[in-house]
Amino acid sequence: MSSMRLTGTPSWLNIKQRSARPGGGDDPSRGPQEPVRRVWAIGGGKGGIGKSFLAVNLATVAARAGWRVLLIDADLAGANLHTCLGVRGGNRVNLSDYLYDRVVDIDKAAIDTSVPGLRLIMGALDHTGMAETSRAQREHLFQALRKLPVDLVVFDLAAGADRATLDFFLETDEGVIIATPEPTSIENAYGFLRAAFYRRLARTMSTSPIRDLIREAMDRRNERGIRTPADLFKEIGQLDRGEEARFRQALEDFRPRLVVNQVRESEEIKLGFSMRSVCRKFFGINLEYLGYICFDDAVWRSIKERQPLVLAYPQSDAALYIRRIVHKMLGT
Ligand SMILES: Nc1ncnc2c1ncn2[C@@H]1O[C@H](COP(=O)(O)OP(=O)(O)O)[C@@H](O)[C@H]1O
Ligand SMILES: [Mg+2]
Repeated sequence: MSSMRLTGTPSWLNIKQRSARPGGGDDPSRGPQEPVRRVWAIGGGKGGIGKSFLAVNLATVAARAGWRVLLIDADLAGANLHTCLGVRGGNRVNLSDYLYDRVVDIDKAAIDTSVPGLRLIMGALDHTGMAETSRAQREHLFQALRKLPVDLVVFDLAAGADRATLDFFLETDEGVIIATPEPTSIENAYGFLRAAFYRRLARTMSTSPIRDLIREAMDRRNERGIRTPADLFKEIGQLDRGEEARFRQALEDFRPRLVVNQVRESEEIKLGFSMRSVCRKFFGINLEYLGYICFDDAVWRSIKERQPLVLAYPQSDAALYIRRIVHKMLGT
């Protein structure tokens, strides 16, 4: 099957909209040189579900809408964003050069792409993964990124849920999880969400006994019987009221978003709703269902042609759904 059209703009795609104004943000007095103010991260735990494909295309649509976009290949060991954008890898400057101090200025680690307004920091093309970076290295990177005069940073994450990948996801309040309608992908998406939430929590809590408790809770077979954030919340409440309030805030602020990719049957669209309710009911997590993208042969064709789908096949169904998702995210 080549592609299918799943018609209509669903009314449920009314997610909370944020400011649409590139460079200016919510505050109209902010000038065009103001530093980065939006960060998106695309994760999902599993490999081969469309993270890189989505990252490239979201970034391209945003750049075409006038945003100054920096796309970052945070999948160091499996870097391939440059290929999706038709940029030759070779010996060009990349993220590892910055992380390992071979390039001091983060701006010099970015290269131009053929899409106006879209720059790329390539992954490393070697076998050193992001998991081998230190928290200090990552923090240094995040600080440098915040000062860059761009409107939007998009991180393409590696598969898995190691600490480094979770830190990239948590560096933004606009983390997007991708799941495809396959049990393996759904399982990994939940695992990723759970790990991201616990990591966020551990970073929020200020006392080490509570951090120890969270570490214990992350082991699904822990002896205290903590299975969900709700169980953990109870335990923390019994130990420390201040930490309980911080927990509540962390839960409130954690608002990951979901895209269901490679939808082949209209029935599969519902996956987003069921994942949203499972997250709410069992984890207390507010997962926003941002939308879905149909399975479309134009996707692999565009990758073969080393071009973003939204440019190579702008009329394809998948491109249509992607533009919808970006406009939701940008509030346009
Ligand atoms: N909506 C889609 N329709 C058809 N094929 C898709 C779609 N999304 C992803 N793919 C295919 O899946 C492959 C893996 O996508 P990729 O973005 O590299 O995954 P990840 O970054 O999650 O490992 C792509 O090469 C593409 O062929
Ligand atoms: Mg990838």
